[in-house]
Amino acid sequence: MAVERTLSIIKPDATNRNLTGAINAKFEAAGLRIVAQKRIWMSRAHAKEFYKVHAHRPFFNDLVDFMVSGPVVVQVLEGENAVAKNRELMGATDPKKAASGTIRAMFAESIEANSVHGSDSPENAAIEIAYFFAGYEIVG
Ligand code: CMP
Repeated sequence: MAVERTLSIIKPDATNRNLTGAINAKFEAAGLRIVAQKRIWMSRAHAKEFYKVHAHRPFFNDLVDFMVSGPVVVQVLEGENAVAKNRELMGATDPKKAASGTIRAMFAESIEANSVHGSDSPENAAIEIAYFFAGYEIVG
């Protein structure tokens, strides 16, 4: 298995409830290393660009409103099979469908306020990481 990097975002519902450390503990316990991390407040333009693949979906405007409603923590996770491992740790997008013990089952409030985002493929991870981080900010 290859060592990979994936982009993770701890969303406003989780930062507002002071859950950054609890979520990071789940990543670290699973063997993922946080090799870059920063707390930012996304602009509307930044959020729209990040989620542009969903621009045609009915929930797009609500999703953007939510992502700019408070601070987020953007981070790069590194480890064996990091993309799939993080998706397994997060659980299904809809917390009602997420397996017990996953981050979304434990912490998410709704399909929109679902606490975390994770890249869905190594190709998208590279694009999403470059969207938030310069190379010098990632320290493995
Ligand atoms: P995320 O992994 O960040 O990618 C897109 C987000 O859209 C997703 O998590 C959800 O939080 C959000 N979203 C809101 N409504 C829906 C929906 N009906 N189906 C899928 N995603 C949704």
